[in-house]
Amino acid sequence: MLLDEFFDPKILIVSGKGGVGKTTVSAALAIMAAKAGHRVCIAEVDEKGTLPAIFGSEGLGYEPSKMCPGIWGLRIIPEESLAEYLRVQYHMKRISKAFTSTHFVDYITTAAPGLKDILILGKIWYLEQERTTKERFDTIVVDAPAAGHMLTFLSAPSGLSDALRVGPVRRQADWLVQMLRDPKRARVHLVTLPEEMPVSETLETTRALEERLEIAQGPLFANAVYSELFTPQEEKKLKGTIDRAALRTQGEAVGLALDDEDFDALFSYARFLRSRRSIQETHLRNLRAGTGEPVIELPFLFSAGLALPDVENLADVIEEKVEKL
Ligand SMILES: Nc1ncnc2c1ncn2[C@@H]1O[C@H](COP(=O)(O)OP(=O)(O)O)[C@@H](O)[C@H]1O
Ligand SMILES: [Mg+2]
Repeated sequence: MLLDEFFDPKILIVSGKGGVGKTTVSAALAIMAAKAGHRVCIAEVDEKGTLPAIFGSEGLGYEPSKMCPGIWGLRIIPEESLAEYLRVQYHMKRISKAFTSTHFVDYITTAAPGLKDILILGKIWYLEQERTTKERFDTIVVDAPAAGHMLTFLSAPSGLSDALRVGPVRRQADWLVQMLRDPKRARVHLVTLPEEMPVSETLETTRALEERLEIAQGPLFANAVYSELFTPQEEKKLKGTIDRAALRTQGEAVGLALDDEDFDALFSYARFLRSRRSIQETHLRNLRAGTGEPVIELPFLFSAGLALPDVENLADVIEEKVEKL
């Protein structure tokens, strides 16, 4: 697949179960797009707000702020979305604090479930429509809420559009439905870990997106996959066991002089990785069998708290794999 094709829709929505790597993958996709010369904005919807840490930037606000060359970030806050909405819709220059207090937003969004999601999606719509050079982006990466909530999040506009027959809100809900259902404008990428629960939830989500929401999807990301320690041939030779003595001799031959204790630790770690890898392979097979979308595997990175160079590394892996699709 050409990179131009991959970045054809302006809006890339990244979702998956909590902790699977949504923010990491969002950042990697943004880096990849920026490298291709795009002006990129990452919209963080997740409340944890771990995105700025990756770029070493300040906490994000409601308006895009520059995190590194070519990449801006913002956090979508429903209260601010409501204020912006009232300002634009009703030309209210000064919005009463009471209208946009967390309390008021909680009140109306409890009364009209889905409204909070509409407000968030509305901000993405504004970003997509923006034409002024200062705020115009070629790619908008949405670091979306965890998958379970994401389905409610993405179905809010069609729910509201079905519920209301006429009026401005109905019209705007329709605009959001059109935005989400147009594969040239928006696409979802699901992220999962190669583990049982995340994989089965991902397969449920992918079906719901296809059958219920009719929102286009792109390649899925299987994150934090352990690398293959052995080639299939080597694996066959080992016949399921590792010969300790031979391994030690081989290690010494390449200058790996370890004492017994270190060698034991290394040995049991290798065994652990090998068995984890084979469990992961089972889940990866299930994932591939259950979806029509390609699956892009991303390596597990052994560094404490991923920093920008690690995420750049993942961006290179994604780019290479997308080009081979
Ligand atoms: N490929 C990877 N290898 C190792 N650690 C990873 C990888 N991807 C993400 N992580 C780590 O896993 C944790 C959760 O990732 P994050 O992107 O914040 O997930 P989410 O946004 O889905 O909650 C973070 O500490 C992150 O640094
Ligand atoms: Mg996150």
